Amino acid sequence: MTLMTKFTEVFGVEHPIAQGGMQWVGRAELVAAVANAGGLGFITALTQPTPADLSREIQKTRELTDKPFGVNLTILPAINPPPYDEYRQVIVNEGIKIVETAGSNPAPHLPMFHDNGIKVLHKCTSVRHAVKAQSLGVDGISIDGFECAGHPGEDDVPGLVLIPAAAKHIEIPMIASGGFGDARGLVAALALGADGINMGTRFMATVESCIHDNVKQAIVDGDERGTELIFRSLHNTARVASNVVSREVVEILKGGGQFEDVKDLVAGVRGRKVFDDGDIDAGIWTVGTVMGLIDDIPTVGELISRIVTEAEQLITNRLIDMVTVPSSEELSA
Ligand SMILES: Cc1cc2nc3c(=O)[nH]c(=O)nc-3n(C[C@H](O)[C@H](O)[C@H](O)COP(=O)(O)O)c2cc1C
Repeated sequence: MTLMTKFTEVFGVEHPIAQGGMQWVGRAELVAAVANAGGLGFITALTQPTPADLSREIQKTRELTDKPFGVNLTILPAINPPPYDEYRQVIVNEGIKIVETAGSNPAPHLPMFHDNGIKVLHKCTSVRHAVKAQSLGVDGISIDGFECAGHPGEDDVPGLVLIPAAAKHIEIPMIASGGFGDARGLVAALALGADGINMGTRFMATVESCIHDNVKQAIVDGDERGTELIFRSLHNTARVASNVVSREVVEILKGGGQFEDVKDLVAGVRGRKVFDDGDIDAGIWTVGTVMGLIDDIPTVGELISRIVTEAEQLITNRLIDMVTVPSSEELSA
């Protein structure tokens, strides 16, 4: 049995499960493992220090899988923006056929991607942005609810409402993101009108994810209350692990502090120390509320196969058993 949806058809993957871009985490081993398991994995372009490194990471991924995979291009306002055009050129040159855009309007990137036969899955956090992206001609939407790791936007609408609200307006394939980690989530997303799910946090706690084991264990040990929302007052909210550093950032900003006052605390190098050295209090690290549903560190293959198998069982046993069909006597009464 397989779960076929508009998403699996349009994006050419076996299962309706994506692994979204993850800074420092979305690398060749994880992405290839997701591809080999029949999901859609994305290399995170900006994790690679230069466009040439991205090129090498794509080639490395190809050595590990012959299945389709994509590249995430996250476009965020920055004082010194990375050379987006050069990263985009590498994506095209390397023959990548699927890109996940996120962070801002994908319009400037669409002509080049489409001219080169690349499908664009745009990730956004509101119905209005999803509608806008659809009207611009993207090929799929990933709608990211308030539960998610990373940037949930400023509207604070959780998936239970955001997904069906978006489904009312979106005709192209749409996957649901934020808070998904198991078969129940996948079935719920399908019921709410999505064509699949995107997961970040769940994939961090897998054998093939390159982060330190301490971080994986912290995710297993953590619960659904284990995150903080930083940068609220700066209108650039990010959901990250609750630790001494993130709590201090929240306090400083609550007290009227500005970015300058927390700049050193949130520095990327400190966050890298968490993932590389396993010191979970060294800096800010991104994680979502779905931590509360994660109890193990399986291989990606085990995880995806478990989610798909249990989702099929959930639909064909538990849900179908709840549907009572009236007997012919009842119908004729
Ligand atoms: C460690 C980490 C880093 C992330 N970095 C990015 C990123 O660079 N670009 C992006 O579009 N999304 C990023 N995300 C968000 C994920 O792609 C995905 O949308 C999110 O994790 C979904 O929520 P979930 O964690 O509840 O599954 C990141 C998530 C995590 C956990």
